[in-house]
Amino acid sequence: MKTAITEMFGIEHPIIQGGMHFVGFAELAAAVSNAGGLGIITGLTQGTPEKLANEIARCKDMTDKPFGVNLTFLPSLTPPDYPGLVKVIIDAGVKVVETAGNNPAQVLPFFRDAGIKVIHKCTSVRHALKAQSIGCDAVSVDGFECGGHPGEDDVPNFILLPRAADELEIPFVSSGGMADGRSLVASLAMGASGMNMGTRFIATKEAPVHENVKRAIVAASELDTRLVMRPLRNTERVMTNAAVEELLRIEKEKGADLRFEDIIEQVAGVYPRIMLEGTMDAGAWSCGMVAGLVHDIPTCKELIDRIMQQAEDIIARLAGL
Ligand SMILES: Cc1cc2nc3c(=O)[nH]c(=O)nc-3n(C[C@H](O)[C@H](O)[C@H](O)COP(=O)(O)O)c2cc1C
Repeated sequence: MKTAITEMFGIEHPIIQGGMHFVGFAELAAAVSNAGGLGIITGLTQGTPEKLANEIARCKDMTDKPFGVNLTFLPSLTPPDYPGLVKVIIDAGVKVVETAGNNPAQVLPFFRDAGIKVIHKCTSVRHALKAQSIGCDAVSVDGFECGGHPGEDDVPNFILLPRAADELEIPFVSSGGMADGRSLVASLAMGASGMNMGTRFIATKEAPVHENVKRAIVAASELDTRLVMRPLRNTERVMTNAAVEELLRIEKEKGADLRFEDIIEQVAGVYPRIMLEGTMDAGAWSCGMVAGLVHDIPTCKELIDRIMQQAEDIIARLAGL
């Protein structure tokens, strides 16, 4: 299948694995890229430019296909060395960068000069238009269903994607709630040129996370996520667990007076304990409602082949109507 996204990124299938903290390591990115999609290493999980350079080198050892690096821009008291990370990405010859969080305008000229394509993750049409106006090559449109940070507008993809299609000139992929061939065909029907998946790719054989995480996603239904940190305007969709229920209790108790420090125990530094050690109640971890559509743990190739086969079957069936 050829779309504006497969052509732009030089990939076989219009399927992207979104950057995921403590999930998007070289093993997963390489497996997705080897299966014909676009795998993405999560830059901030590595932390320093040296470690990111090492992770990119590891990925190159595992695939000769294109892969990307995610750079998430978050307000932080001790910001990561963004200029150093940008330099490493350019020097390593990475072809695609997925930006997320704050406006990436400051880094765009460096990537453009290096011939790197930038896809910016947005949760609203106005942010997508902004990304287009500052020169991003594509956007990833994240609906309210998504795992991670859905923004504060709460617009689900059945509205957000056609709205994006009506307004944007650059190509975009759907993101949030995507799991299978039905998701892909629906995304194409609504004007996207491909789809981005997060949660679905965690429950794959190659995702280098603890088996407990994969099992938790398979066991979860679409009712098992919660929205946290809304009072801080930093809403995150996470899998429910004991720590999350405690976090929500604190949020209710503090009301408008909630400060980040009140919930630090449930959110700060919890990812390694969950993703690597499998301590599932250690804190809040991003997970999409799409967990309700995840019932198995295939390899990335099995998953992507299955998605493409199902999409082609659906397109053929629809053509016969
Ligand atoms: C565990 C987890 C960690 C994530 N970490 C990041 C991140 O560090 N940066 C980022 O831009 N997006 C992050 N995301 C969002 C994904 O890249 C993707 O946009 C989202 O998962 C899509 O929704 P879905 O889970 O319904 O497929 C994360 C998502 C999950 C599930």
